[in-house]
Amino acid sequence: MRKLQDRYSPLGHPEWLYVEKESIETFTANDWKTLDVQRNQYIAQVKTQHLLRLLTVSAEDASFGYRVNMYRHALQSATMALRDGLSHEDVVVALFHDVGYITSYSNHGEFASALLGPHISERNHWMLKNHAVFQNFHAPHLSGVDQHARDMWRGHPYFDWTAEFVKLYDQATCDPLYPCEPIETFVPIIESLLGGDASNK
Ligand SMILES: [Fe+2]
Ligand SMILES: [Fe+2]
Repeated sequence: MRKLQDRYSPLGHPEWLYVEKESIETFTANDWKTLDVQRNQYIAQVKTQHLLRLLTVSAEDASFGYRVNMYRHALQSATMALRDGLSHEDVVVALFHDVGYITSYSNHGEFASALLGPHISERNHWMLKNHAVFQNFHAPHLSGVDQHARDMWRGHPYFDWTAEFVKLYDQATCDPLYPCEPIETFVPIIESLLGGDASNK
């Protein structure tokens, strides 16, 4: 019979320890300290990889009608932002702006905003949360939506950035012939962003 330990998930580092207790009610202060230290190291080690997986899982998805799928839309958006000389933060935001589009269609902007959490500025949190409403401005023949709904935010400090992002990097970034950078190009850019906390910007 296999040992119980053979059924454990492997640890992320050979020197880490399991907390071998069934209920967290019995965890000691030392157990929590162990977990805290190991969790922080683990997150630092795998966060970029996990973010990328959320995106690349849809790399081969079918399109529901646009000429490219959502993954290629994201790559084009981020590639154009990169080639325009935008900041690393803006490039990563472009890459992930629609990451929850299929699973959380009606609130996918909030999904992306929460996903990038403290690593992006208030300016980009606001843009991500509201970009879908700004998209309507470019869809004059889409019935059932107010094309000018974005005007409720006229004068808001992030209105212009959101309008610009949607105009340049969202509403027309489904070109099957556009020469996108490979996803590998964005790995060091994501890593440089994850090293920082933009919540004070
Ligand atoms: Fe979107
Ligand atoms: Fe988009």
